[in-house]
Amino acid sequence: MRPAFVLSVFSFLLLHVLGALLSIDYGQEFTKAVLVAPGVPFDIILTADTKRKDMSGLAITTVPGSKDEVQRNFGSHALSSCVRNPSSCLLHLKSIIGKSVGSTEAVKYLSTHPSVDLVESKNSRNSIAFKVAGTTYPVEELLAMTFEETKARAEQHWDISTGSKSSLVTDVVITVPSFFTQSQRLAIKDAAEIAGLNVVALVDDGLAVALNYASTREFNETKQYHLIYDMGAGSTKATLVSLSSINGTLQVENEGYGYDETLGGHLFTESIKDILEAKFLSEHKNVKMSKLSSNGRAMNRLWQAADKAKLVLSANSETKVSIESFYDDIDFKTVVTREEFEEYIGSNIHRFTKPLIDAIGDFDLKNISSVILAGGSTRVPIVQKHLVTYLGSEDMISKNVNADEAHVLGATLRGLALSGMFRTKQMNIIEHSLSSYEIKYFEEGNQKKPSQDVVVPKGSTSINNRTAIELKDLKSIKGFEVELFEDGQSFKSFSFQSPKGLNESSCPGGVNYSANFELSESRIFDLKSVSVLCYPEPKEPVKGEEVEEVKPKRTVLNAKPKYTFYRPMGTATKQTSINRLRDLTKHDKERQLHEETINKLEASLYDLRAYLEDEEVVANGPPSLISAAQALLTEYLDWLDYDASSATTKEVQEKYDEVRVHRIKIETYVNLSDTLLDFGEFERLYNTSTETIYNLQDFVITMREDALDIQTKYEENNLDFEEANKKVKVTVPQISDSDINSHIEKINEFLELFETFKNDRAQFGSTSKELLYNLRETILDELKELKSIHSSLKSVHHTRIQGLKDRLNKYLKRKEKEEKKLASSAISSASQATASEEETATESISATSETSATTTHSDIKHDEL
Ligand SMILES: *[C@@H]1O[C@H](CO)[C@@H](O)[C@H](O)[C@H]1NC(C)=O
Ligand SMILES: *[C@@H]1O[C@H](CO)[C@@H](O)[C@H](O)[C@H]1NC(C)=O
Ligand SMILES: *[C@@H]1O[C@H](CO)[C@@H](O)[C@H](O)[C@H]1NC(C)=O
Ligand SMILES: *[C@@H]1O[C@H](CO)[C@@H](O)[C@H](O)[C@H]1NC(C)=O
Ligand SMILES: *[C@@H]1O[C@H](CO)[C@@H](O)[C@H](O)[C@H]1NC(C)=O
Ligand SMILES: *[C@@H]1O[C@H](CO)[C@@H](O)[C@H](O)[C@H]1NC(C)=O
Ligand SMILES: *[C@@H]1O[C@H](CO)[C@@H](O)[C@H](O)[C@H]1NC(C)=O
Ligand SMILES: *[C@@H]1O[C@H](CO)[C@@H](O)[C@H](O)[C@H]1NC(C)=O
Repeated sequence: MRPAFVLSVFSFLLLHVLGALLSIDYGQEFTKAVLVAPGVPFDIILTADTKRKDMSGLAITTVPGSKDEVQRNFGSHALSSCVRNPSSCLLHLKSIIGKSVGSTEAVKYLSTHPSVDLVESKNSRNSIAFKVAGTTYPVEELLAMTFEETKARAEQHWDISTGSKSSLVTDVVITVPSFFTQSQRLAIKDAAEIAGLNVVALVDDGLAVALNYASTREFNETKQYHLIYDMGAGSTKATLVSLSSINGTLQVENEGYGYDETLGGHLFTESIKDILEAKFLSEHKNVKMSKLSSNGRAMNRLWQAADKAKLVLSANSETKVSIESFYDDIDFKTVVTREEFEEYIGSNIHRFTKPLIDAIGDFDLKNISSVILAGGSTRVPIVQKHLVTYLGSEDMISKNVNADEAHVLGATLRGLALSGMFRTKQMNIIEHSLSSYEIKYFEEGNQKKPSQDVVVPKGSTSINNRTAIELKDLKSIKGFEVELFEDGQSFKSFSFQSPKGLNESSCPGGVNYSANFELSESRIFDLKSVSVLCYPEPKEPVKGEEVEEVKPKRTVLNAKPKYTFYRPMGTATKQTSINRLRDLTKHDKERQLHEETINKLEASLYDLRAYLEDEEVVANGPPSLISAAQALLTEYLDWLDYDASSATTKEVQEKYDEVRVHRIKIETYVNLSDTLLDFGEFERLYNTSTETIYNLQDFVITMREDALDIQTKYEENNLDFEEANKKVKVTVPQISDSDINSHIEKINEFLELFETFKNDRAQFGSTSKELLYNLRETILDELKELKSIHSSLKSVHHTRIQGLKDRLNKYLKRKEKEEKKLASSAISSASQATASEEETATESISATSETSATTTHSDIKHDEL
């Protein structure tokens, strides 16, 4: 049997992954992400709290105690801020992306989020911005913050998986509902770009679920029809797809679509919120509804309670709701039943099946193999109940895909196939456009009677393709305008100037305007280019000769786009956002590190305090080290309370290090067995110390002898020893005589002290354990130092002597050769020859030394030792 699709894709990938691809399912309520990269296991990227999804959005607040520094809390970490400070709370943004302040979506948003300061974005882009913590952020930038946070988590996950340090994710696929308009798509694309992500494609979420479903199943040439019913937090979509396999290539085709842009989990939560609100108001007749509704804090808490109640009601028939000090210091306690909820949404029930009916169209329900449920809100019992009633049986409903994760997983498969970075199994995706794309165009002065044309009709499969259209009604050299429409809705236009360098009389053979359009994989429709062909006068046909073809002159025309309604960000606006994001992220990181360091210090202080109270430490610990640690403890706990927040991270870290050192010192002392401090041990230490010093002194004498030895040989040959010594280059650590002497002095002090102990054992016996301990630690350190000095001297000495010997040998060999030569030539010039030869030898010494110039000079001269 053929292996399942997913397995074969990913066993391929393990060998062929070259780049990385991030897949994001950005929902109205939750965001999920997957990273495919070399060495990274294929799975959902977990949040900081190891959850598989995070809330979409963030809170932006002023850092406590600062004037204008802001901090951001993402996902579920925004919630506490949302309750305390509702105006800082920026959730559920998906519904207003690419919309204007006056849109019904914005009005609706304000009614459910009464505390936010929703404003017009700058530069009249007909887009929304939020004023929060003293700054106005375009909604695209806020979305970019979420994308960037997801990207950072993906990179961190990659780093951890592979042990690297600076993984970089740049390519992304993002799921979008098929019904998203040009404005919404462009806004998402801008947001991704601000976050430093290159959009491989915006993937329709119905297609993503279909791919996820197909990836683990087998198909044959007969088309299987499945209906994907996808109810998320913000919207409900139904997609009819056919799946088949032709010669091992999976075929996926969308065959029908229906949607409801505002039906979803959010509406259910809102219903429960309304029920709760009504209950509260009926219990407290003196509370005005308008007052309650405009109290952001109360409303946010009510929404959160409603959301919780909704989840409980999916599995239980009733739930208790309790909000302390809800409004005007009144505690709110009540019970909501599933029955109440279902009754309340009863008026919306026809909306549950509408998308499904639209998607099926006149297709026979009997030919549908299964209805695949996706999206978290399909778990709400009344939704399933109603679907079953409509379908007539429960058997058709398939819960085989993970309702939460099918979108992001399927989009990953789509992205992998599109990105070209990965070898994936063959799949052929036939996407019919769900919208039609039309144009209107007219010649200057003719706007009253524009011409129209359909570039991509609804249902066309020319997605990810260019289409050339002749603008037939443009017949002269004049300026003209082309306007683009999506389902009859104008969104963009281009004003072309009269083509430069051409005039009426220059094209006597006529003109021909042709326009190139593209409907991209992300379903972004655009005019890519317009060119004009200018035909010269046709030649008169001459009898008996073939008509010579006249070549037209092609001119490519340029025009700046004008947006009818929503205008995407320009390069400069985007750059402003990119810069601001970079600063915010930098500050967030610094603040996070600062907080982490403070927490680390605090933990180490509590740890030290507990340790100092430990029985064993109290009984056997070093008294003066302990009292020093206690003093430190008191001082730093105090410092934490009053000064830490204004201190630099470095200062905090230094304090932490200091606490650690104290702790380790005491611990080492306590761990030390008593036998390590007895007389025998000290005698051994004494023996080792004398031995170490003797060895060093012996070595210094050897060095001197070796040096004298070679110096004599140089002098015997009339060579400049000092000069050669200077030129031998060796790498040495900087060691000065006084360094060495101070180590020896300290050890000598110990030797003297121990000699008194030897003569007076009672004095040793009465020396405190802590003193002995400190003494031992000091001497062990000193010995370590001396041994290391000894070994570097050894290596320096060896290199130097070897270098001097090599030079000498070279010289001697050369001399021998010369002498042989001399012996065979005239004896009369012998004395001259020797003199000149000596010069050559000296030169050759200098030359050799220069070729080894990469090492540094020694500070130590043999004579100094
Ligand atoms: C294709 O698979 C279906 C079951 O999914 C089966 O009923 C049908 O006979 C198969 N057709 C062929 C040509 O194998
Ligand atoms: C499948 O492959 C066979 C053999 O390569 C070929 O003859 C046939 O036309 C292919 N079928 C399709 C639908 O492409
Ligand atoms: C749907 O099923 C009917 C029989 O129930 C069949 O005649 C028809 O061809 C099927 N249509 C498709 C598109 O498979
Ligand atoms: C792209 O367009 C060309 C001509 O317009 C057409 O022949 C071709 O089939 C199209 N390709 C796809 C994938 O739709
Ligand atoms: C039209 O353009 C041609 C060059 O292409 C130029 O020689 C001629 O003078 C122009 N005529 C007018 C009316 O501007
Ligand atoms: C205009 O140009 C297009 C493509 O360049 C061509 O298909 C069309 O036939 C031309 N029309 C005329 C009238 O020359
Ligand atoms: C002291 O001993 C404990 C228990 O054996 C050990 O965990 C700890 O690392 C030791 N500390 C030091 C500084 O050696
Ligand atoms: C220290 O050296 C002395 C003299 O060489 C020797 O008698 C003694 O056993 C040594 N002590 C230890 C602990 O090594």
